Amino acid sequence: MNSVLVASNRGPVSFTVDDDGALTMKRGGGGLVSGLSGVTKDHGVLWVCAALSDGDRIAARQAPGGRLDHAGYDTGALRMLDIPAATFHRAYNAVANSTLWFVNHLLYDTPNAPSFGSRFLREWESYRDYNGAFALALAEEAHHGARVMVQDYHLTLTPAMLRAERPDLRIAHFSHTPWAPPEYFSLLPDDVAREVLEGILGADHAGFLATRWADAFMDCCRALLGARVDHAARTIIHEGRTTRVGVHGLGVDGDALCERAGEPDVESHMAALRDQVGDRALIVRIDRTELSKNIVRGLLAYREFLAAHPEWHGRVVHLAFAYPSRHDLPEYREYTASVQRCAQEIEDEYATEDWDPLILNVNDDYPRSLAAYRMADVLLVNPIRDGMNLVAKEGPILSPRAALVLSREAGAAAELGPHALVVNPYDISDTAGALHEALVMPEEERVRRRRELVAAATALPPERWLEAQLDALDKLGPTQG
Ligand code: G6P
Repeated sequence: MNSVLVASNRGPVSFTVDDDGALTMKRGGGGLVSGLSGVTKDHGVLWVCAALSDGDRIAARQAPGGRLDHAGYDTGALRMLDIPAATFHRAYNAVANSTLWFVNHLLYDTPNAPSFGSRFLREWESYRDYNGAFALALAEEAHHGARVMVQDYHLTLTPAMLRAERPDLRIAHFSHTPWAPPEYFSLLPDDVAREVLEGILGADHAGFLATRWADAFMDCCRALLGARVDHAARTIIHEGRTTRVGVHGLGVDGDALCERAGEPDVESHMAALRDQVGDRALIVRIDRTELSKNIVRGLLAYREFLAAHPEWHGRVVHLAFAYPSRHDLPEYREYTASVQRCAQEIEDEYATEDWDPLILNVNDDYPRSLAAYRMADVLLVNPIRDGMNLVAKEGPILSPRAALVLSREAGAAAELGPHALVVNPYDISDTAGALHEALVMPEEERVRRRRELVAAATALPPERWLEAQLDALDKLGPTQG
């Protein structure tokens, strides 16, 4: 039995099936996972995650009770849930990624979407089953009075389900995304919206990355549930139970990042990139190809900058690394195509024999991304909405001289804004102006701003972020049942 448990959709490892049927294990990716994997092993935490692929499902089935660590894998304590593929796809793609993600990032093209009908009700049923599978596994694994940390929008219902089974536990939920204001959140069918909020309120502690998202969640609880909300005390009272709300701005482990970025594979990517771009100034962006990352407007802003500043022709290169993500969703495939189209237009308009104004790369290559960070003169982070955005934090740590152009809609803007050039992500002229300002920023100012950015970015590394939430659970007093 375990006294600290973490639950998240994606786990720290994934499996592929080789041609001969053997399983190969790979370390998982993504911000949430890399943040957590560094710390869970050292804290003796049991991690519960879903099997995401056929390979994962085979590995989970073969391991006794789904415990991969009991099957001889070096994963730390890890239980992988063998959720039926169809249930998983409806919960993950249709509900979590196409609905809850869209709502909280304000991504809908509302004249056309969403429309919720009988199909959605079936999908919602699968989301419930998937959340229920987590609640059951956590209830089985948790020690009396254990602390359970449930992560993100995939698992909004788990806290209430788990509390119903195990009132002795102390439960935290953490949202790694923004939260929508009530008038947008209520695009969801009323009973679904209530179920999501009440699901999270099953936790003793609801955590967010920024004050804005915590406030929006509290506003939704007041408007949609009629809960008693105290913004100053950060408490929500609903049906006799109190949930505390906390803001924990996840940061970066600067030393570990620098160490990784100093390895030979990164150095050789730097040499290759230098050969490609010469001594031109570099504007760098690194993202998942994700609708909320606003890559197309970023490219349009670069085009507008080139149009307004011919003196920079031949002297600057934009490195845009947009690695693939969520290609099961048609919106993401279409978005990737528009990013590529837009990049092609810039090439057609501005490229010359000896100058490539834009290098777009759509393959995932972590050491190459680290190399790009180290070489950046300007880092562009312009999401239309983002829970935090760790690129904005990692970049300044690795680049000795990059100026940061940062969207005011990223959670990171609350901490980094005073030292960045803050832009409205919908305003490409504003963004183009900021790119120019960043390129011509005097050396002394760059260095001064960077120092502040690094201090803010490393203020709450993953280990302390996790501890802060465990502390918040400890301070709650006796469990309320
Ligand atoms: C980003 C978000 C997290 C989310 C994750 C899911 O990292 O910030 O909130 O959990 O994406 O990504 P995935 O690739 O697992 O769908």
